[in-house]
Amino acid sequence: MNLKGRNFLTLKDYTAEEILYLIDLAKELKLKKKRGLPMDTLRGKNIALIFEKTSTRTRCAFEVAAHDLGMGTTYLDPVSSQMGKKESIADTAKVLGRMFDGIEYRGFEQKIVEELAEYAGVPVWNGLTNEYHPTQILADFLTIKEHFGSLEGRKLVYMGDARYNMGNSLMIGCAKLGIRFAACAPKEYFPDPALVAYCEEYAAANGSSIILTEQVTAAVKDADVIYTDVWVSMGEPEEVWEKRINDLSPYKVTASVMELAKPDAIFMHCLPAFHDLKTTIGFEMGTRFGLDDMEVTDEVFLSDASVVFDEAENRMHTIKAVMAATLGAV
Ligand code: CP
Ligand code: NVA
Repeated sequence: MNLKGRNFLTLKDYTAEEILYLIDLAKELKLKKKRGLPMDTLRGKNIALIFEKTSTRTRCAFEVAAHDLGMGTTYLDPVSSQMGKKESIADTAKVLGRMFDGIEYRGFEQKIVEELAEYAGVPVWNGLTNEYHPTQILADFLTIKEHFGSLEGRKLVYMGDARYNMGNSLMIGCAKLGIRFAACAPKEYFPDPALVAYCEEYAAANGSSIILTEQVTAAVKDADVIYTDVWVSMGEPEEVWEKRINDLSPYKVTASVMELAKPDAIFMHCLPAFHDLKTTIGFEMGTRFGLDDMEVTDEVFLSDASVVFDEAENRMHTIKAVMAATLGAV
């Protein structure tokens, strides 16, 4: 498998074999790190990390992974670069491409990261856009594989806003790897029909399926994985909170939802999560709307079925695999 020079913008660009290769490479790199073995074969290289939205996991994962591989990192925060404000995306890409060996971008429309990739001349990695979050899916699938020993034939149910980055990317990944996917939400939160049609073709070829349903009980039956994400994503306006809470509250992951799934089902969340009121936004919304939690209860989040911190750790190992493969370290 040779992925040298490739971008990592969406899982649509990657075959099932390539996705599985990256997951297995991450597993190998994780083991190497645990054993304290050196892996700094990319010494002398440097990467730029552009964050137009905030981050804990993705930024730290890119930085730690880059340092483990021997690379230098430069972090460009949401306000202090010229990009977009005084300098076009194309010009920024050309400048950064002259100095860096790879560029990570987290921000808004997918077309921005696509444009960066078109002009940079070095690999560009998507650290989250409105439409996709592909590095998160690698971490999630590594976690599922570690937990159950296999991916193919499993059933993953996504509860909540299924038309945004997480719902979209999980659906693509599941369709390509033969994981049965169900989006469980009110109809207006179903993913874009064109993307569903694209995924259905892959699912049909892999003996898997894509289900879109408003019915919680039917959706979670036989599920191996119950997945959710925040109801309001970064960059969305404050005004949407009330309607989202009203629309998506029936899709909250509770202990009763988990009981309807397989007895050994796991709970997953890309994080950060509103499972209690110990955050500024969680507290504000909890007080305004009379809630103790949002997309998942504290009980489920803290239960033995919850693998959310394994997912968080695996962000680092999988992002390392993406960089190592596309920069030609393996
Ligand atoms: N899951 C994830 O992308 O987390 P951050 O927003 O903290 O990077
Ligand atoms: N859907 C969330 C994912 C965060 C990792 C967001 O875009 O804010």
